[in-house]
Amino acid sequence: MSAPIPASASAAPATSAHDGRRQILVTSALPYANGQIHIGHMVEYIQTDIWVRTLRMHGHEVYYVGADDTHGTPIMLRAEKESTTPKQLIERVWKEHKRDFDSFGISFDNYYSTDAEENRVLCNTIYGALQQAGLIDARDIEQAYDPVKEMFLPDRFIKGECPKCGAKDQYGDNCEVCGSTYQPTELINPYSVVSGATPIRKTSTHYFFRLSDPRCEVFLRGWVSGLAQPEATNKMREWLGDQGEAKLADWDISRDSPYFGFEIPGAPGKCFYVWVDAPVGYYASFKNLADRIGLSFDDWVKSGSKAEQYHFIGKDILYFHTLFWPATLEFSGHRTPTNVFAHGFLTMDGAKMSKSRGTFITAQSVIDTGINPEWLRYYFAAKLNSTMEDIDLNLEDFQARVNSDLVGKYVNIASRAAGFLIKRFDGCVQDSAMHHALLADMRAAIPQIAAYYESREYGRALRTTMELADAVNAYVDTAKPWEQAKDQVNAVALHETCSVSLEAFRLLSLALKPVLPKLIEAVESFLSIAPLAWTDAGKPLSSASPVNAYKHLTTRIDPKQIEALLAANRESLQPCAEAAASAKAAVKKDAKQEAKEDVKHEESGVISIDDFAKVDLRIAKIVDCKAVEGSDKLLQLTLDIGEEKTRNVFSGIKSAYRPEDLVGRLTVMVANLAPRKMKFGMSEGMVLAVSATDEKAESGLYILESHSGTKPGMRVK
Ligand code: 2FM
Ligand code: ZN
Repeated sequence: MSAPIPASASAAPATSAHDGRRQILVTSALPYANGQIHIGHMVEYIQTDIWVRTLRMHGHEVYYVGADDTHGTPIMLRAEKESTTPKQLIERVWKEHKRDFDSFGISFDNYYSTDAEENRVLCNTIYGALQQAGLIDARDIEQAYDPVKEMFLPDRFIKGECPKCGAKDQYGDNCEVCGSTYQPTELINPYSVVSGATPIRKTSTHYFFRLSDPRCEVFLRGWVSGLAQPEATNKMREWLGDQGEAKLADWDISRDSPYFGFEIPGAPGKCFYVWVDAPVGYYASFKNLADRIGLSFDDWVKSGSKAEQYHFIGKDILYFHTLFWPATLEFSGHRTPTNVFAHGFLTMDGAKMSKSRGTFITAQSVIDTGINPEWLRYYFAAKLNSTMEDIDLNLEDFQARVNSDLVGKYVNIASRAAGFLIKRFDGCVQDSAMHHALLADMRAAIPQIAAYYESREYGRALRTTMELADAVNAYVDTAKPWEQAKDQVNAVALHETCSVSLEAFRLLSLALKPVLPKLIEAVESFLSIAPLAWTDAGKPLSSASPVNAYKHLTTRIDPKQIEALLAANRESLQPCAEAAASAKAAVKKDAKQEAKEDVKHEESGVISIDDFAKVDLRIAKIVDCKAVEGSDKLLQLTLDIGEEKTRNVFSGIKSAYRPEDLVGRLTVMVANLAPRKMKFGMSEGMVLAVSATDEKAESGLYILESHSGTKPGMRVK
């Protein structure tokens, strides 16, 4: 049995509890209960989960809670559309979300719902405290109202023509065509997305949280100084303005019935706005857990608490978490967040995720196509840092990175060493080998890796880990155990090589554990060791506890799985129920008459303007054009459509054009056509061409050309 070997001192920050064991409450943003979890969401849950696991591995008392964000108008209307009740809808979606989080190894201690009794009670108590503090005001305001549906309309539920460019069907706040922003009242011919009716203006009493009160400003100016991210601090300073500028506006915290939410005490027909009860839902989830496991909820959340509290969020909801939420807590007798950590968005190949291109990838489709979620955990972690920068998923890079790092560098070490150790040495390591210099270097690096995780520099943690893996592989390549094994005289040397390799593998597993929990569980069982914690860096494998038979730990990503993933997420461009529904809203007619017209239209092949609007036509500049070897029909076009990268498109126009004649011309392309894998490569769209009845006649084929004043990327409507 070998003696413990010291690792360098831990780089953990100051502790909150006197015995060094910190009490830490962690949350991720609560997903809305009306949609599926996609991999963009998963970035945040994976980021939080890695952090939580890192802290648990230090032995701290950590609780990670989440919940579905269940209230609000969209969920109410969605339920109606599905002919169900909001309660039934959120119950179904909760199960789907929970399934997805479990599959991705997100280790919530409690996953709850904001539509829970604990949340109602907490919201009422907090509201009462804010009233007591003189921070609630009632005021009459005028708002858009749908006279048919008899409900007030949030901005997102009003559409109309853009007041600047006249584009149809634009939202009440900004135009997706010309990019201008405006008030919903400025829309021309506005209509309610819910019923198609023209909204009227109607007055009603609303309740406000008086964020403009000087007490809030003073508090927030102080609180902001503790924020970890400079980008967040800067944003907050911008919102707060200069001293005395009184920039903070009061916050409207009520909505009129019908609204799926909690009724405000003493205000019949008024509900808390969803953004009031959503963050309180963090506490409701924790309360539900605390009551079940016998924890004092108040000790953790009341002002003066010694516990730490962290919220992981997307950068788009910083405002709610750094202004409203801390102020709500401060003035209702609660502790305020220790920190808020915001991350950027996930892009796919540098662009927003898109349904038609198959890059809007749901968590469920990852599981269905047999892609191991831990591969994605690894890839995202390798790209994540502590800033709010967006992170990009490139599927080729994903395959290459996972195959090379996890299989080629890491798992390979075990598979190369385990066979010899088991066959020749009964699975027992050579204890003296545990003092090898390579292992000492690795042990010394572990606290730094743990510290990188804690400071959310996951990319650095994994880069350092892979550098160690490179060193181990170089050691194995030099020692050549496969050569050593050929001659019995080398038995001691072979034993040393395998023992060093396996101990190195154990240390790499320790470094990877927050990211790959399931894989490392399998490693722990193979190595016959207790669950790894950071202090185990200095507790090497021992001959007293032989390793078990080696079982395959992970496989390479098969390119077919990636193809299947894209196919599973690609949406057909055929008119769907949703398009028909929004087309309905656009025609602003009696609902029954309208439905009849829709059916008639479908039967006659006529499409609505919304159906047409689904085709994303763009001006494209042909920046390069080549003949395709082996094809007598195709030309390969490189098209600039104003995106970061050019598009590659194969077009059957070889009979009509010489490649060099097309370079520099402007044409029109369908930009949101699902990419198509062809014999010669991937075609990422289609250029529009006119063909005469006799398609074979050379003169019968013309690509569409655009006026020279148009620019690549302009939308054709
Ligand atoms: O933006 C969103 O998806 C919200 N559902 C997040 C809520 S986070 C918290 F405040 F509850
Ligand atoms: Zn416009």
